[in-house]
Amino acid sequence: MKILAIETSCDDTCIAVLEAQNLRFKIKSNIVSSQVKLHAKYGGVYPTLAKREHQKNLPIVLKRALKEAGSPKINLIAVTVGPGLEPCLWTGVNFAKDLAQKMNLPILPVNHIEAHIATNFIGGKSKKILPAVCLVVSGGHTQLILMERIGKYKVIGQTRDDAAGECFDKTARILGLGYPGGPAIAVEAAKYPEGVVSRPYGAGKIQLPRPMIYQKNYDFSFSGLKTAVLYDFKKRIPEVKKSKSYMRQMCSEIQQAAIDVLIHKTLKAARNFKAKTIILGGGVAANKELREQLRKRIEKEMPSFVYHVPDQKHCTDNALMTAVTAYYRRKEKTKNWKNIKADANLRIDQKYGRETC
Ligand code: KG4
Ligand code: ZN
Repeated sequence: MKILAIETSCDDTCIAVLEAQNLRFKIKSNIVSSQVKLHAKYGGVYPTLAKREHQKNLPIVLKRALKEAGSPKINLIAVTVGPGLEPCLWTGVNFAKDLAQKMNLPILPVNHIEAHIATNFIGGKSKKILPAVCLVVSGGHTQLILMERIGKYKVIGQTRDDAAGECFDKTARILGLGYPGGPAIAVEAAKYPEGVVSRPYGAGKIQLPRPMIYQKNYDFSFSGLKTAVLYDFKKRIPEVKKSKSYMRQMCSEIQQAAIDVLIHKTLKAARNFKAKTIILGGGVAANKELREQLRKRIEKEMPSFVYHVPDQKHCTDNALMTAVTAYYRRKEKTKNWKNIKADANLRIDQKYGRETC
């Protein structure tokens, strides 16, 4: 079957065509039209601006996706219905409904968080030894999810304030780095420890907090980390703020503080819930240090565990992951187009316009 998937939950307009048969996937096209340049000016995503861009981009991206896929006969339309930015989600949902009605095709609503997990299964018949503990880290979410099977999830922990990606975006803004902040911080962090010996600011090692790391729960909090960065930055003299060595050490510490908490809680959850697999997903999963440090810790401390991490290029938002999720849930397709609704706060363990969950 050929699935056309649409994803507009945040600031990327994405359409993909996926050919799927017996858990074998062939990527026919995967178009991502990024709005990064537009939002960079503001240091974050403006929902109404993003919505307008999606409306403008969707028809163009659709044409490209179909052309690149060789204008195939589509069998199913999948669309992200949540969670995400409400105006952006609705733009994609309405576009998908129109298209499905015009082509007389069934439609399948997809949860964006589940899609970040399912990115791991693009390779097809990869080992899925369940239960799994999934760490989904993006610009809007930081969640630990227990996956008993595809379609059966339990959120066991989540951030109480900012998401990890949001923390990177906000701290990068404080430091005057570009948007999105995650990749910008990673680039600077990779250059550390250059300049350790002669710190121009003579302030010793920057030490940021590891919020909630030893608390007996699986929740996170990243807004305190952002505030700590702000205080440290504010107290520095202008020459220090502008110095490469300050920037590099600070970025390395921000990244490591977040990674320490994410890994600690993930491993603890995997042990305590007697999981067999650890799955990483979401835009922040593109972070090389997070991917590698998690891998090393699993290999060292829990060698019997299976570790899934998506290809770096499939971590940030794309419609391919929406299509893969739709394939796994293909039985839930519907022609009741009217019933498909966007839900900005949709949870992965919640039923949404489906017969089964
Ligand atoms: O999943 P995603 O594309 O969108 C949401 O669903 O939110 O995630 C975007 C987030 C942004 O906060 C961005 O800064 C972060 O992922 N990100 C990274 C990296 N690439 C993207 N964070 C750390 N390291 C990266 N290499
Ligand atoms: Zn995402």
